[in-house]
Order: sequence, then structure tokens, then C-alpha cells
Amino acid sequence: MNTRLCQIAVAAFLIGASASTTVFAHGDVTPQAVDTTGLDKLGATWKDSNPFRGNPRAIEIGASAFNQNCARCHGLGAVSGGIAPDLRYLEKDDAGDEWFKERVINGSIRNGVTYMPQFGDALGQEALWSIRSWLDTVRAD
Ligand code: HEC
Repeated sequence: MNTRLCQIAVAAFLIGASASTTVFAHGDVTPQAVDTTGLDKLGATWKDSNPFRGNPRAIEIGASAFNQNCARCHGLGAVSGGIAPDLRYLEKDDAGDEWFKERVINGSIRNGVTYMPQFGDALGQEALWSIRSWLDTVRAD
């Protein structure tokens, strides 16, 4: 093999290797607990829409909870690098809340591959609605 072909082979191998590492790393995200002190407890049953919309304490908690739990896929500041949807474009208001809730509880798991882990039990609805409240503050439109 000449040098040029060899470089191409190495490059192809590296691209393949890093792509598969990414998939595994993503399925393996350990949720980071979020301190929700200062917010009302919401109980075990999920609300249908965000009870903390516009709540300043929730927005503050949500900003750091997002960076710890979501940014690695959805991007710092929710500016997606393309791995996962750009959450600045999530629908507003109740329709967006419903889809948000559905996704964070169930994650996205297809054919045994975890594209997005489930967060409902690990973080709880107080922390997750806080993230949703923060996302409202970085909307793209
Ligand atoms: C391991 C990567 C990963 C992490 C971590 C992750 N997500 Fe996701 N998320 C994805 C992927 C990939 C999709 C698209 C799934 C699909 O379409 O099947 C997605 C989809 C979503 C959607 C639906 C977006 C849409 O436009 O349909 C929401 C809402 C969401 N994620 C919220 C979150 C929140 C909140 C967190 C943190 C608590 C989080 N995600 C953490 C990878 C991730």
C-alpha cells in the first residue's frame, strides 16, 4: 500500500471508530441529580403542562440542570451541534410541554439502541420542568 492509500485507510478507520464510540457514550449517560430547593413539590403524578413557566428560580435551576444532563447531546446553551434536535425550536406553550414531557420520560430507544436516555425517574418532574422553563428563555423565535 502506498503512503497516500494508507493515510486514507487510517482516516477511514478513525472516523468509523469515533462514530461508534459516540453511539455507545450516548447510551451510557448517567443522569446528574438536580437540587430543586426553593421550588414547590409537584408530587408523583406528572403535570400536563409546565407549572414553573416563567418562574425565575426554576429558570436558574434549569440552566445548570440542562448543562449537566442535556448539553452533551443538545449543545451548550441548547445550540445543537447536530447530534440531537435543537431544543430552541421546541413548540411553545402547552403543545411543546406535552412533547417535552413525553420525550424526557420515555427517552428515545429504538431496536435496543438508546438515542436519548429516560430522565423521568432520575431527575423528577421538578428538575425537568425547570429545564423546560429555561428552554423558554433561549427560544430561537
Ligand atoms: C445521549 C444524548 C441525549 C441526551 C443526554 C439528551 N437527549 Fe434529548 N434527544 C436526543 C436525541 C438523539 C433526540 C432525537 C430522538 C428521536 O428523534 O428519536 C432527542 C430528542 C429530544 C426532545 C424532542 C425534540 C424534538 O424536536 O422532537 C426533547 C424535548 C429532548 N430530547 C429533551 C432532552 C432533555 C431535556 C435532556 C436532558 C434532561 C435531553 N434531551 C438529553 C439525545 C439526547
